[in-house]
Amino acid sequence: MAYRIVTLPGDGIGPEIMAPTLELLRAVGEFEFEQHLFGGACIDAHGVALTDEVLDACRRADAVLLAAVGGPRWDTTDPGRPRPEQGLLGLRKGLGLYANLRPVKPLPALYDASPLRRERIEGTDLLVVRELTGGIYFGEKTRTETSASDLCSYTTAEIERIARTAFEAARAKVSSVDKANVLETSRLWREVVGALHSREYPHVALEHVLVDNAAMQLVSSPRHFDVILTENMFGDILSDEAAMLTGSIGMLPSASLGGDGPGLFEPVHGSAPDIAGTGAANPLAMFLSAAMLLRHGLGLASESAAVESAVQGALDAGLRTADLGGEAGTADATRAVLEHL
Ligand code: IPM
Ligand code: MG
Repeated sequence: MAYRIVTLPGDGIGPEIMAPTLELLRAVGEFEFEQHLFGGACIDAHGVALTDEVLDACRRADAVLLAAVGGPRWDTTDPGRPRPEQGLLGLRKGLGLYANLRPVKPLPALYDASPLRRERIEGTDLLVVRELTGGIYFGEKTRTETSASDLCSYTTAEIERIARTAFEAARAKVSSVDKANVLETSRLWREVVGALHSREYPHVALEHVLVDNAAMQLVSSPRHFDVILTENMFGDILSDEAAMLTGSIGMLPSASLGGDGPGLFEPVHGSAPDIAGTGAANPLAMFLSAAMLLRHGLGLASESAAVESAVQGALDAGLRTADLGGEAGTADATRAVLEHL
């Protein structure tokens, strides 16, 4: 039976990178795709970024593939108006996807496409494990005329389950990133991670790193890291920073897992409204997200490896989109990857 994948193209370059991704998936297996409006496109049609119908459709699927949401058209600071990002947060929360995996492994072909020197990034192979359904993203928000607040809270259970994901994924070391010199949530984080480590994972090395120092080490010595375990907002910021090690944020895929139902797979980059409609978008992070869907979402490891090596083969053969300093557009990139499949 064909796997059922809900596809959410979203906004901006989203539809342009989703279409070739489905082409790529069709080339490696049999899937039934069910497409839905999401983000800004859904706000335009229904007034909300995520409808109950779409959330239900996602719950019934074997996996969810998302491109990107947002754009200037829906930008607002008015708390009463809907925002495309609410769809994304609602989907993560609604599917219980507490574990966000963002692998960062610069390909040798792209060592010189990174703004960092080759000898800095060579050999980097790290995984950001970001807590995705708690912390300041989901705490109570208040707003008056002259003040605003966002509550950051974590429970031991929330910390323990994401820490377990990190220890299970680690080959050698977990770097748990917090701000324990200032934040109470971070002090709890440190305690819970430390206790779980000594109880169940004493064979994995563990270090605690303050987030500001982690930000520095990510660019000064990225090889230092194996698994970076961190809370929601620190993970958001550090993963964009880490993306630049790969040459472009247009290269970074992600998987969000943890619920009883399907996982969600999406590139780390946004909807790039500035280049939407020009055919210039780099679809590689989206292709690599589809590869993560195949492996983590459906257990199709060899199909996943085929997609990853086709991307690598195309880059080795010289494929460079504009964000990587080249001239290839979305269609060129798709053709090149399909040729190497
Ligand atoms: C990400 C994005 C989202 C986040 C935004 C679009 C809400 O930046 O997936 O990293 O902050 O989680
Ligand atoms: Mg982000």
